[in-house]
Amino acid sequence: MKIRLLIRTKLILSFLAVVLIIGVASISIGIKIINDNVIGQAYDDVQMNLNTIKYFFNERIHFKMRFLEYLSYLETLRSAIVNNNRRTISEKLREVKREVEFDILTVMDARGKVIVRSGDFNSFGDDRSLDKYVKHVLDTKKPCYGTDIISRDELLKEGRELADRAVILVLETPRARKTGKKIEERGLVLKAAAPVIHNGRLIGVIYGAKLINNSFDLVDKFRNLVFKDEKIDGSDLGTATIFLDDIRVSTNVRRQDGMRAVGTRVSEEVYREVYEKGKTWLDKAFVVNKWYLSAYGPLLDIDNRAIGILYVGILEEKYSRILRNTTLYYLIIIVVTSIMAILVSVYIVNSVTRPAEKLIAASREIIHGNYQKILVDTHDEMGYLGSVFNNMVDAIHERDRQLKERTEKQIVKSAKLASLGRMASGIAHEINNPLTGILTYSSLLLEDLQGTDYGEDLQIIVNETLRCRKIVKGILDFARETKLEKQPANINDVIMDSLSMLEKLAHFQNVQILTDLDPEMPPISLDVTQMRSVINNLAINGADAMPRGGVLSITTRYKKEPGTVTIEVSDTGVGISEENIGKVFDPFFTTKEIGKGTGLGLAVTFGIVNRHNGQLDIRSKLGEGTTFIITLPEA
Ligand SMILES: Nc1ncnc2c1ncn2[C@@H]1O[C@H](COP(=O)(O)OP(=O)(O)OP(=O)(O)O)[C@@H](O)[C@H]1O
Ligand SMILES: [Mg+2]
Repeated sequence: MKIRLLIRTKLILSFLAVVLIIGVASISIGIKIINDNVIGQAYDDVQMNLNTIKYFFNERIHFKMRFLEYLSYLETLRSAIVNNNRRTISEKLREVKREVEFDILTVMDARGKVIVRSGDFNSFGDDRSLDKYVKHVLDTKKPCYGTDIISRDELLKEGRELADRAVILVLETPRARKTGKKIEERGLVLKAAAPVIHNGRLIGVIYGAKLINNSFDLVDKFRNLVFKDEKIDGSDLGTATIFLDDIRVSTNVRRQDGMRAVGTRVSEEVYREVYEKGKTWLDKAFVVNKWYLSAYGPLLDIDNRAIGILYVGILEEKYSRILRNTTLYYLIIIVVTSIMAILVSVYIVNSVTRPAEKLIAASREIIHGNYQKILVDTHDEMGYLGSVFNNMVDAIHERDRQLKERTEKQIVKSAKLASLGRMASGIAHEINNPLTGILTYSSLLLEDLQGTDYGEDLQIIVNETLRCRKIVKGILDFARETKLEKQPANINDVIMDSLSMLEKLAHFQNVQILTDLDPEMPPISLDVTQMRSVINNLAINGADAMPRGGVLSITTRYKKEPGTVTIEVSDTGVGISEENIGKVFDPFFTTKEIGKGTGLGLAVTFGIVNRHNGQLDIRSKLGEGTTFIITLPEA
């Protein structure tokens, strides 16, 4: 039972170990791959969004420039400029200003002097030729566009309302660079300028700008376009910001109180990298109260000088959710596979141990003498083991049955012999005394009447009486239960003694005697006299079975393991029929003619061998010969 548990536990533990090692390895590798992919994908996303907002921004200004170009082709405007008709120009400017969402729209003459401002009819005549965009048009006669910073003075010329709209209170922001600046009055603008050409001659410049400070339609449109108003836990998924310098002037990032985070500033670290070095910044950033995957890029003016920063951020939560969900599914798959692997392993282990259990149970039954077979229901090694086991059960059962049968026969025989012996010896005793009387008186009579008519008859009486006495002596020998007088002796010597006497008998006239005696034979405890009569009986029987001559061989062998001595007496005589072989040990069984054999020789022999704790076996084949085998224990 213990072994079975051990095997099962061992097998299941090994399976578990394999599953766990594979599981842990694939979980860690898998999570790393998912992590790298999702995070990599996330940064690709923000980087792409930053490029999109740049493009979006650019397209907006480009569109405004095209509009100015279109305006410059208008005949009404051209002739108004040629004729210095300020009213007409002003009306035209105000008409289009709303459509194109310009905050500033100005017409200048060919030297850059302001002719008309859409914001203030009375503010004109000042020189704008040093403005980078105006200068570009004057120099190249080509339109241009971009972003720029406009001073408060310049904004005031367009009107107080516009200048005030640009004002931003700078808020104290942790980790921002120290400037001490409290207020930002400059305006970040989208700017475009276009030449007015008349008859191939430059007659003026149209110039427009849109203020970005505190204006959110650009960032919101961008966000709606790219992130489709998506929200996670109430927060916008994506946010965009435009910085003037390092100050947020337009953004949809919200502060804690829900207000747009205008006036807060970018961290010094980002400012140095992006604004000063002109690089793109990609990283996780804690913006106001949430983690964002962020991208910052420089905002350049027409001379490629940094004037601000563009920012796009995506809530990290989006990716950590993907990460969490993917990891969760992955874990579920691994756990389910592990459980399946364990179930399969338990099934396999059971399919091995269940037949083993059956074998153990059946073996126990066999110990108790219950020859129970097991049901073989598989065709694998366990099934084969099972059928071999069943064959073994059959074999043991058969051997056991034979053993029992033999033992029973032996017991019956012994009992039969014992009772027969007792009866025979009783009779023999009673007959012995009268026989002695008959023999004595008939012998005396024979002495007296020798040579007379009665002499021959008396001789017959004496002979027959002698024969009776021989029978009686045989019966007494057979039935005698006297103690053996044992002494250590070499069986080879006993055999040689017997043979030296036997050779002289008439029985052995035509018989060749061969001996093969084990030289290693140790002395064993024997009753020498009785053992000699055993050899005599067997040898005379052999000789009698070969009336026309033959070979009588006597062989001895000593077996150290298990400590036995065997004596084989073999002849090449007539053999014993199948029918008689079971009877030869019976007392008085003889095939010899009356007067020749008493049928007691083998019965006596059997008794002596038995009393030496030995065994007497017989092997015979009709017409070929007979072998008697005596097996004696060494000790
Ligand atoms: N070596 C043998 N070959 C053939 N038959 C044998 C042999 N030994 C014994 N037998 C048979 O067994 C019978 C019984 O043998 P057992 O020695 O008991 O008696 P017996 O030889 O007939 O008479 P006794 O030995 O008393 O003179 C024999 O009559 C014979 O038929
Ligand atoms: Mg005999």
